[in-house]
Amino acid sequence: MSKVLEAAGIHKSYPIAGGRVDILRNLNFHAQRNEFVSFVGPSGCGKSTLFNIITGLLMPDSGSILLKNRETTGSPSPELGYVLQKDLLFPWRTVMDNVMLGLEVRGTPKSEARERAMALFELYHMQGYEKKYPAQLSGGMRQRVALMRTMVTNPEIILMDEAYKALDYPLKIALESELLSVVKQQQKTVIFITHDIEEAVTLSDRVYVMKAHPGEIVQEIHVDLNTDSLLIPERRLSPRFNEYYERIWRSIGTQPTPVN
Ligand SMILES: Nc1ncnc2c1ncn2[C@@H]1O[C@H](COP(=O)(O)OP(=O)(O)OP(=O)(O)O)[C@@H](O)[C@H]1O
Ligand SMILES: [Mg+2]
Repeated sequence: MSKVLEAAGIHKSYPIAGGRVDILRNLNFHAQRNEFVSFVGPSGCGKSTLFNIITGLLMPDSGSILLKNRETTGSPSPELGYVLQKDLLFPWRTVMDNVMLGLEVRGTPKSEARERAMALFELYHMQGYEKKYPAQLSGGMRQRVALMRTMVTNPEIILMDEAYKALDYPLKIALESELLSVVKQQQKTVIFITHDIEEAVTLSDRVYVMKAHPGEIVQEIHVDLNTDSLLIPERRLSPRFNEYYERIWRSIGTQPTPVN
């Protein structure tokens, strides 16, 4: 299998009074074609910083990012699409116009852009909402539209930073099931950033576990839930789920907080 993303020796620090503080230290990781790779770690371990480095929005102090063997450190790349926790839809554009945006900025003719966007409305069960405005949609629908806007440009690699964090549980697992079936069907590579261990185990082929202060990868875990199902509830009920959950929990080194 070929590596579509490769990162070597990523280091990032920020200036503080009297010196610098290490945020990310010597991160080495990769993703294979069609692989679903998650980064899981506690708040503040540098997940979003890492996300910004992979997307080229932020320059690391040292180290390199390679997409399909081409160095892209510090610069955006057309192979890469991303979805954030906050959906960042434009409120003054209709849902259709929001979805078409990614193609428009790339200079795709409007009629072609509309056609490609239209196909996604069916795939994501959003028919009938083309002319609505983001404010008229629920949070889950908005997040779907954000994903559609990313998918319409047909990126090879999709990067998601806590994209489903703000959603209630049933909606979250519905969208995750949908995501998994689309990315497996379309053979996409996904880099998924989360602090949610359950989410990481149910979705991923492989998980990098991070710790904080400084952010470092402490473990790499290959996940095999021994099921062909792409439905999250079924994956969650795999007898192997707990074993992976526990391994990640232990390697993060967190203890449950007592509830009074
Ligand atoms: N511009 C900046 N200057 C200084 N420190 C920063 C800057 N941006 C982020 N940090 C620090 O870097 C650390 C990692 O932040 P980051 O947002 O990447 O963490 P995270 O793992 O995404 O957290 P969360 O799970 O809460 O989203 C934090 O301690 C944060 O305060
Ligand atoms: Mg973050």
